[in-house]
Amino acid sequence: MIYAANFKTNHTRKSTQAYLEALNKKLDAKKSEDKVYIFPPMTALDIYEGAFTVGTQNAYPVHNGAITGEIGLEQLDEFDIKTILIGHSERREVLNESQDKVSQKFSFYKAENFEIIYCIGEPLHIREQGFESVIHYLREQFDGIDMHYEKLIIAYEPIWAIGTGRSATTDEIRTTHSALKQVIPDVPLLYGGSVKPANIKEITEISGVDGVLVGSASLDVESFSQMVLS
Ligand code: PGA
Repeated sequence: MIYAANFKTNHTRKSTQAYLEALNKKLDAKKSEDKVYIFPPMTALDIYEGAFTVGTQNAYPVHNGAITGEIGLEQLDEFDIKTILIGHSERREVLNESQDKVSQKFSFYKAENFEIIYCIGEPLHIREQGFESVIHYLREQFDGIDMHYEKLIIAYEPIWAIGTGRSATTDEIRTTHSALKQVIPDVPLLYGGSVKPANIKEITEISGVDGVLVGSASLDVESFSQMVLS
C-alpha cells in the first residue's frame, strides 16, 4: 500500500521537522512493502532521513528563471527532491491550472525522471450526471499525460469528497477504480478524499485501491501513522 500525506498550506518548517521525527519512530512498525510519502509546504522542503519520501506539492516546469512566486528544478535539486504532486484539484480549480499547464509540468518533470503522483477527479455536478460522464471527465484529464511512464502513480480524488468529511462510498470507489484500472492496469492507483482512521480499512480493502492520498487526517502524526499501521 502507498500512504501519501498532503499537508497543503498547513504546518511550518519547524512543525514538519517534529512531525517527521515522530513519524519515523512509528514507521519502525510499518510493513516493509508499504510506502509513505509526505508533501509538506514548500518552505519545509529539506533533506530528511527516514522511512518515507518527501515530495513537493507543486513546481513550475523550469530549471530556474523569472517566475515570481514559483520554484523550479534548481530549488528541488538542492534537497534532492525527486517526487512531485501534479494536477491536484485545488490547483486546477482554485489556481485555474489548465490541462495544458498540468501536462507541461508532467512532461517536464517526467523528462527529469521524477516520480509523479498525478491527481484526477470530477466535481459534484459531473458525478450527478452519472457514471459515464464521470469516466469521460476523468479520461479528459489524461490528455497530454504519458500513462505509460514507469514512475507514475495516479490519485483518484473526487472533488466533492475532498476536505468535506464525506468520503466516496466503497461502491463509488470500487466502480471508479475498476473502470480506471481498465485504462491503466499497471499504474498504482490511490484514492483520496476524506480518508481518515475511521474509514482507512474499508478503503484499502477495496480491490483496485493501491493506496491513499490524505489531506486533513494526515496533519496529525498520530492520525496519519495510525492509518499507515492499520
Ligand atoms: P482530504 O484531502 O483528505 O482533506 O479530503 C485530500 C486531498 O486533497 O489530497
